[in-house]
Amino acid sequence: MIKIITIRLIALVIFLIFSSSIAWAEYKEPPEVCPQERKTAKAPSHYLKKTNPLRATPRNIKKGKVLSQIKAKPMACKHCHGMLGNGQGSMASSMKIKPRNFTCKQTMESISDGQLFWIIKKGSKGSTMPAYSYLSDKKIWQLILYIRSLSKRDA
Ligand code: HEC
Repeated sequence: MIKIITIRLIALVIFLIFSSSIAWAEYKEPPEVCPQERKTAKAPSHYLKKTNPLRATPRNIKKGKVLSQIKAKPMACKHCHGMLGNGQGSMASSMKIKPRNFTCKQTMESISDGQLFWIIKKGSKGSTMPAYSYLSDKKIWQLILYIRSLSKRDA
């Protein structure tokens, strides 16, 4: 009798380990998407003409990174765009319109500085991308330098 209970217990433990490992597998970050489908509205032409007045110095890039990972309000960019900027932030999976993958060179090269500036300042209507209109122009340009640095790594 005791033997049967022991065998059942062992079977149960094996089953639990097995099923929890399946659950684990489902929790992995999905693979990043590149090139990314993009239906974002186009900025007005006076924004599109803008170019970044700042240089990509380590200091400016770092300022942008701190905003993106920690400081930006109402919410740091990483929650949607991901710690690595690959568009796989913790909130991204539930979104229909996916956050931009800043590490995707092919997609990022097709977007001008002025377009990036406009979206960060005004947000993207119809998506979850918020407007960061409280940020000074300088801070927005620092964010853009950081974002651009993410797709410059792989040649
Ligand atoms: C709550 C989620 C969320 C947060 C927080 C967020 N974004 Fe986004 N972002 C999105 C989504 C979704 C899109 C795609 C919008 C679209 O295609 O219309 C996007 C798109 C973008 C784009 C691409 C614009 C284009 O024309 O392709 C840039 C640049 C961007 N975000 C920058 C930022 C920056 C910088 C921050 C932080 C200061 C930030 N985002 C915070 C969700 C978010």
